[in-house]
Amino acid sequence: MWKDRRLTQLFGIEHPIIQAPMGGAAVPLLAAAVTNAGGLGSLGTATLPAVERRRQVDELLALTSGPINLNYFVHAEPVVDVVRTARLQARLAAWYAEHGAGKPPAPAVLVPTFDAEALDHLLTVRPAVASFHFGLPKPTDVAAIKAAGIKLIATATTPQEAKALEAGGVDAVIAQGWEAGGHRGTFAPPYDKGQIGTFALVPQVADAVGVPVIAAGGIADGRGIAAALMLGASAVQLGTAFLSCPEANVHPLHRLALTQAERASIVTPAFTGRPARALANRCAADLTDAEADILDFPLQISQMWPLMQATVARGSSEFLPMWTGQAYGLNRTMPAAELVATLAREAMARLASAA
Ligand SMILES: Cc1cc2nc3c(=O)[nH]c(=O)nc-3n(C[C@H](O)[C@H](O)[C@H](O)COP(=O)(O)O)c2cc1C
Repeated sequence: MWKDRRLTQLFGIEHPIIQAPMGGAAVPLLAAAVTNAGGLGSLGTATLPAVERRRQVDELLALTSGPINLNYFVHAEPVVDVVRTARLQARLAAWYAEHGAGKPPAPAVLVPTFDAEALDHLLTVRPAVASFHFGLPKPTDVAAIKAAGIKLIATATTPQEAKALEAGGVDAVIAQGWEAGGHRGTFAPPYDKGQIGTFALVPQVADAVGVPVIAAGGIADGRGIAAALMLGASAVQLGTAFLSCPEANVHPLHRLALTQAERASIVTPAFTGRPARALANRCAADLTDAEADILDFPLQISQMWPLMQATVARGSSEFLPMWTGQAYGLNRTMPAAELVATLAREAMARLASAA
């Protein structure tokens, strides 16, 4: 039995284990398996266009009647900077030519921000939990979500961001450490302040806010879960650890790289325009220092997408964004339900032996 029941009770789950919402990877099969195993399954809805989001939510609801989490990015509409675009496209021209990818297209928004349609759909579905990355939606939206009985959580990368989220009305704060795979949830400048490791961040966030804390970043087994709970978290959110489950939608080249544990993971804006942790490859290595040429999130995606498609078709991962956290060497390949049970068992044994 878990000692701190604040979040298990709030979300209606058995184990304080949240499978992270992962754009592209956290599909209905994965989220349903986690929820049905007693954790909180999260759908990677943030990156989906509305029609596909609705389809995946319907699919998930057909697979589970338990608590689920829907996830949204909250980012400002990007500004198309003509000069920057010209500079980036000049840089990319050689790569496009090398891979027969044609010409770089005009910048386009391929990832939606949380809007009126998404809110309306969320209020209709009424999942147990809605999670937000890159800040919170506007106060009237927050009020509507809470009035619908949906628990609201959001990512902080500093104690200051955690306080701002608490003031904004969240039911719990996700403390995302620097080890985490995927996009940094940082929303308050300066960006560099949000580069705090999980071990340092979680206790500071727990001291800063009264709402429960969810630890995220570099947690992959029972040792990490027990440590996070000892540091003051009431639950954990694991992303990378679930990428090796068969239910996750992970490109075979990425899945293979996860078993090799020989690449560094680096934080780079190269793929999308916002800093995110991925396995190092040619794209990340060559563009990470080119910040002045990188387009606003999510316009950058439209420039890198054709290169990714052309190279992946040839079996190369040099332009594939392989979002991965620093602890990926601990990944185990097993069905998601088995992973949830294993994590819970390991963590409880650790906590019992420490008591
Ligand atoms: C493949 C991948 C995709 C991710 N996509 C999202 C996303 O769409 N929305 C989000 O809030 N967080 C996303 N994250 C970040 C996770 O919510 C979480 O912070 C992170 O996975 C925790 O670190 P870990 O990967 O070391 O477990 C993603 C992480 C990964 C690994």
